[in-house]
Formats: sequence, C-alpha cells, structure tokens
Amino acid sequence: MKSGVLARYRDRLPVTSKTPILTLGEGDTPLVRCRQLESEVGCKELYFKLEGCNPTGSFKDRGMVVAVAKAMEEGSRAIMCASTGNTSASAAAYAAHFGLTAVIIVPGGKIAQGKMAQAIIYGAKIVALSGNFDDALNIVRTLVEKHPITLVNSVNPYRIEGQKTAAFEIIDMLGEAPDYLFIPVGNAGNITAYWKGFVEYNQTGKSKIRPKMMGFQAEGASPIVQGHPIKDPKTVATAIRIGNPASWKKAEAARDESGGSIDSVTDDEILSAHKLMATKGGIFGEPASAAPLAGLLKLTRKGMDFSGKHIVCIVTGNGLKDTEVVLKNAEPFLNLPAEVSAVEKALGWK
Ligand code: F0G
Repeated sequence: MKSGVLARYRDRLPVTSKTPILTLGEGDTPLVRCRQLESEVGCKELYFKLEGCNPTGSFKDRGMVVAVAKAMEEGSRAIMCASTGNTSASAAAYAAHFGLTAVIIVPGGKIAQGKMAQAIIYGAKIVALSGNFDDALNIVRTLVEKHPITLVNSVNPYRIEGQKTAAFEIIDMLGEAPDYLFIPVGNAGNITAYWKGFVEYNQTGKSKIRPKMMGFQAEGASPIVQGHPIKDPKTVATAIRIGNPASWKKAEAARDESGGSIDSVTDDEILSAHKLMATKGGIFGEPASAAPLAGLLKLTRKGMDFSGKHIVCIVTGNGLKDTEVVLKNAEPFLNLPAEVSAVEKALGWK
C-alpha cells in the first residue's frame, strides 16, 4: 500500500502534477475494537480510531500534509496558524519536512507541554499570547491578509480535504460506514471533514449508509450547544478550549444532514472517560479525545438504545502529549527500599 495521505488518496484530493507528494507517514491509523466497553454501552461493535498514531500524534497531520503541499505548489515559503497545540505541532513538523518556515500563535500557559515541546524541537517561530485560541485565530487571520504567508488553520479548505481521508479509511476497513460517529468538537473542522468524507464515499457507492455525526464539546467551552460564542472558555481538555469555532455553521450542517447531535460533557465526565478508555481499552488519548466516549456513556446513561449498532469513536490525539493532567490526579506510588522482601510485603505477597 502506498504510504501517506497524498499518495493513497490522490484521486480524491486536489492533487495536480505539480503537487509535491511528500509524507511523514500520516494516515492509515488503527481502528481498534473494544469488547469490554461494548458491554458497557450495549452496542453491537465499538471501535476507536487511533489518530494519535499519526506522525505528530494527532489527526491534524492528515490535513496538514495537503495544506503544506499546496502551499509549496503555490510558491509559498512560510505557513502560519493559531493553535491549542496540535495544529501547531503538526504545522511545525510538516514545515520542517517540506523546508518551509512555520509561525505559530498559541494561548500562553494553556498548551499541554508535549505539544509545546514539539513546536520547539521542530523549530517553529512561537508566539504565546495572553489571550485564548479565538484571539489567536483572529490575529492570524488579519496577519495573513497583510503578509505573504499561508494560513494553515482548518479554514484553509485543503486541511478539510486531507482530514476527510479518515472517513474513507473507516469505510475501507469496516466495509461500510458505522451507524454513529462520535467525535470531539473544538474549532469544528474535523466534524466537517469527516462528514464530507462520508458523503463523498456514499455518493461514489463505497458505502450504503451515512453515520449520524455525534459531536461533543466540553461544557465550559460549548458555544454550539449554548447557541452563542463563549468569551472565556474553560476546560481541562485544552485542545478544545474554543469559544467561537470557525466552522460553526458547517458543524451544524453535518449534525443536521446526518440526523446526529452536538452536545456537551463536563470535565469530570471527560476525565473519567479518559481513565476508562485506558483501563478498559488500553487506549491512552489526550483529554479532548475522551470527549466522544464521555458523550457515548452519557447518552447510554440517559437511556439511548445502541443495541445492534456499530459505533466509531475518534481518539483525536495521543495521551503522551498531555501527561500533566494524568500525573496531577495520580495516587502516590509506593516508595520502598531496593529489597525483594520489602516489595513482597508491600504487595501483600508475604
Ligand atoms: N481533538 C484534539 C486532540 C484537537 O487538538 C482538536 C483541535 C480537536 C479534537 C477538535 O477538532 O478543532 O477540528 O473541531 N485542535 C486544534 C488545534 C484547535 O489548534 O490543535 P476541531
């Protein structure tokens, strides 16, 4: 199989003879069935798509490779984005690989450390603002109008093109679209991209059904659910700490056309799903990536019937990006002398 999103899906992407077909190995991520959690939900089959297995540890790489290749094709030498951390990590990596400059603007003090470390090591120019993601995106949108630099946030349509390939992969792997797709919603690009992918495959006859799109925001950052922008969004899931999503209308269209919903989950629900996904599934996602499972469990508790249904949850980012949140809530470890008998005693084996 061809490696990378551009080569594998070139027929369904805006690839021309001049597009540089480079890759860091993005896409083709695992779709893992989790039987232990199936019984909690009462559905037929429950899968997790591990987007944290992409080269920079999040789904952003699928769209970034297309956006950066097109930027190069169009003669751009520099790219820019606002980010809660994953877009900037991805932009920095692909800029480095393609030989471009990356400038990233992030909300200061609100980015998980692993993501910051990525932007630093890939050599991006980093600006930390005393503001939130929405402020950063506004500034970036103004700057790209005034300076010769390409915007690579998901308002760049090439990002959505690349990200839709994840929906193709789900159908290619399962042989049909699932009944439900559970996905976190932040700036709302990814739910838009998945819906585009599912619709395209359905139109070309690769699937018979289209999934219901089930988007989840964090309660303290849930503008779409509340119906108005949130000035000061707050959530432990820093990746989706967004108060005024750029693709708001497109996310609502995906919800309405698919017959799905966009709902919210509390930080407590996110953290307990984060833990459950790890302890019952062996899957370590970052907190935002636990919002889909938190949402699925919330709907199950409310009595929604998933019997006979196929469900896919998108684990959008790797848990190793945000270890702070785990270590902060951890129980203290045993601290013992280096002696067999002390370890046996502490474990209750003696
Ligand atoms: N999950 C993770 C891990 C993310 O990083 C993001 C968005 C989302 C979900 C939500 O996706 O924005 O397309 O609705 N992260 C962006 C960033 C905002 O800057 O990295 P969305």
